Amino acid sequence: MGEVDPAFVLEPEHRPKLSITEAKSIPVIDLSPVVNSSGDGDTKAAAAVVREIGKACEEWGFFQVINHGIPLEKREKAFAASADFFAQSLEEKRKVKRDESLSCGYYDTELTKNVRDWKEVFDFQLQDPTIVYASPDPDDKKVIQWNNQWPQNPPHFREACEEYSREVEKLSFRLTELIALSLGLPAKRLNEHFNDQTSFLRLNHYPPCPFPELALGVGRHKDGGALTVVAEDQVGGLEVKRKSDGEWVRIKPTPNAYIINVGDTMQVWSNERYQSVEHRAMVNSEKERFSIPFFFHPAHYTVVKPLEELIDEQNPPKYKPFSWGKFLAHRKLTNYKKLNVENLQI
Ligand code: SIN
Ligand code: FE2
Repeated sequence: MGEVDPAFVLEPEHRPKLSITEAKSIPVIDLSPVVNSSGDGDTKAAAAVVREIGKACEEWGFFQVINHGIPLEKREKAFAASADFFAQSLEEKRKVKRDESLSCGYYDTELTKNVRDWKEVFDFQLQDPTIVYASPDPDDKKVIQWNNQWPQNPPHFREACEEYSREVEKLSFRLTELIALSLGLPAKRLNEHFNDQTSFLRLNHYPPCPFPELALGVGRHKDGGALTVVAEDQVGGLEVKRKSDGEWVRIKPTPNAYIINVGDTMQVWSNERYQSVEHRAMVNSEKERFSIPFFFHPAHYTVVKPLEELIDEQNPPKYKPFSWGKFLAHRKLTNYKKLNVENLQI
C-alpha cells in the first residue's frame, strides 16, 4: 500500500483537486411527462421537458434524468452482477480478457492520453457480432467483426447484463427522440442510424486508490458516440468541465438517476449547437466505485454530418462528413481517446 506506480501518475496540471466544490451541478430533469407517452412531446408538460433538455445540452452537454422508466430492480441486478464479477480473482477475470482483435471483454490496462486509468472494465456490445471497418483509411473497404465474450461466473451475469442493456437502450432511443425534438426535428429523425448500432455497455470498477491526488479512474476525454447514459453508485467522482468557465465540476450522485451526455456524433449532427464536453472520473482512497455507462453508437456505415435541416447560409456546415465505423476503428486502434471530431472540422 502507498507505493506510487508512475504509469498512473498525471502531469501536475491534469491532477484532480480532492476538495473540489460541488458548486452548481448539472441540471436534473424529470422525465415523467414523457416516459409513458409516444415521445412526440405533444403535451404542455412534455414540451417543457424537451425545452429543458435542449437548454441542458446547449449549456452543459450533460444532465441527469429521474423518473426515466428503467426498473430499479434491473439496475440493481446489473450492479450486483458487476460487483460479483469484479470480486473474482484476476485469473478468473482474465479468462474473458479483451484480445488483439479487440473483442469485448475484461481489461485493466486502459490508457487515456498515455496515462493508465485506475480502473478495471468489462465491455459487451448490444449487437453481437458488431461489424466495423478494419481500418480508418478512407479507401479501405474491409470490415471486421467484434465479438462478445461472456464469463461462466457469476452464473446470472450475462442475463443481468443483457436485460439491463435492453432497458438502457430504450431510454437512449427516447432521449435521442427528445433531443431531435429540441432541435426542431421530427422525433424519429435520427432513429434509423441505430438499426445496426455499434453500441456497447461498460461495467467500470474503480478500486480504492492509495494516491487519488495523482491519478484518475478515467482521464479527461470526450465521448465519440451520439449519447452516453451512465448509471453510478452513490460514491461519486465523475467531473465535467463546465462550458461557461472551464472549471471542473463534480457531479453529485442522485439515487437511481442517469447521467446523460452528448457525444461527438451529436455535436456534428447538431452542427455544434450541442457540444460534447470533456469529463473525467476521480478515485478515492477509501471506497471502491462502480459505474455502468452505455454508449449509444450508430451503425458503422453511418456517414455522420451536420443535419441538412440545421444548415443554411447563416449556418454553414462546420464538419466534413465522416464514416462512424472508421472513426470508431480509429479510436479503438489508438486506445479510444486520441481522436475527437475537432480533427474533422471544416
Ligand atoms: C467515463 O467513462 O466517462 C466515466 C464514467 C463514470 O465512471 O462515471
Ligand atoms: Fe466518457
